[in-house]
Amino acid sequence: MKIGIGKRFQEETKHTRDGLDTGELDWTAKPKPYKTYRDASRIALPRAKGLVDITLDQCLRLRWSVRTFSPESLTLNDLSYILWASTGIRDTIDDFEFRTAPSAGALYPIESYIVANRVEGLSKGIYHYSVKNHELEELKLGDFSSDVAAAALDQGMCAEAAVVIIWSAMIERSKWKYGQRCYRYLYLDVGHIAQNLALAAVSLGLGSCQIAAFFDDEVNTMVGINGSDECVLYMSVIGVPQKG
Ligand SMILES: Cc1cc2nc3c(=O)[nH]c(=O)nc-3n(C[C@H](O)[C@H](O)[C@H](O)COP(=O)(O)O)c2cc1C
Repeated sequence: MKIGIGKRFQEETKHTRDGLDTGELDWTAKPKPYKTYRDASRIALPRAKGLVDITLDQCLRLRWSVRTFSPESLTLNDLSYILWASTGIRDTIDDFEFRTAPSAGALYPIESYIVANRVEGLSKGIYHYSVKNHELEELKLGDFSSDVAAAALDQGMCAEAAVVIIWSAMIERSKWKYGQRCYRYLYLDVGHIAQNLALAAVSLGLGSCQIAAFFDDEVNTMVGINGSDECVLYMSVIGVPQKG
């Protein structure tokens, strides 16, 4: 019987005692940790204010997958906090910038794209989150709500939500160190980021749902990446939950 790709992947990316690669890393080939769209218009994100006191225990108990949203917009302040909480810079130690979510080898291969359907003070469109500068880089303006829903297997919540976050992996950032095993780590990294987002959303009185059912290449094309060196892994919708 043919062994499926999943089982082969699991087998071939195992660490074994006699197969550990203990070679030196080529530090000259280390990929840069930040992606930048140099020519893009930039939108500064406010330093988040007005955070309410809520315990982690309350956030955990209140989190659930919200799939119906009110027509209310997200504030730029809320979007700013959610982006920082999911993948922003937490601290700088010895000139190295550590982020809010853990990452294998602190290589931070995940990039965030934002489909803004309804955000106060932000034109509808697709943006890239510049982690380094905590700002948005404008990629294309327009209403992409129905495109993103269609690409997500017609999940209408993507059109209804105020914002859709799309996470991609810059594969070489992790492969440089971990080789084929990096494919495990990319998915683990993005899972941590998504959970940070889900809890941050709850802390702001918002709801989110994580989404892995989508036509990969349609989403890759929407955010303008080639799906090979950089590919979409995961998404989240965010908005004000519909009452009742
Ligand atoms: C990896 C992953 C992929 C998911 N993909 C989708 C999705 O495409 N559409 C959807 O409606 N929910 C999706 N979900 C949400 C799950 O259905 C949801 O977390 C689960 O039913 C448990 O419910 P809860 O989140 O309300 O606790 C996904 C969750 C995970 C962790």
